[in-house]
Amino acid sequence: MNDRDLVKLANDVRRLAYAPYSEFPVGAALLCADGTVVTGVNIENAVNGLSLCAERVALFKAISEGKREFVKIAVSCQSDHCRPCGACRQVLHEHAPKLEVLMGNPQGDYTRTTIAELLPDAFTLEP
Ligand code: THU
Repeated sequence: MNDRDLVKLANDVRRLAYAPYSEFPVGAALLCADGTVVTGVNIENAVNGLSLCAERVALFKAISEGKREFVKIAVSCQSDHCRPCGACRQVLHEHAPKLEVLMGNPQGDYTRTTIAELLPDAFTLEP
């Protein structure tokens, strides 16, 4: 799937977000190394701290389906060029230190970066 289509998919799934508290729906589309795409949306909760971001929902869905290698993720929200939060950067880096990240907007435009750029000098357990 090409980059523009991946961003479009992130935008399309955004309507499935469960975000009644923030009213800030986010969509993500994760391209796995086997060519499949797994989507995610943010899922909030009345108990603060239990909400999950779209990126982690997509990644955890993919891992739980047996995927282990990831090429790129597109993220989209209502503001311009949606940036993954710090927690998602750490989690994405753990599973895909070379991941490309497409930060999209509702019009389908996007900025391309990498998880290494978004989280330089990341924490790992490796020496
Ligand atoms: N959110 C994401 O889904 N991904 C991000 O990278 C940033 C924030 C969600 C969390 C919360 O449900 C809403 O956006 C507002 O913070």
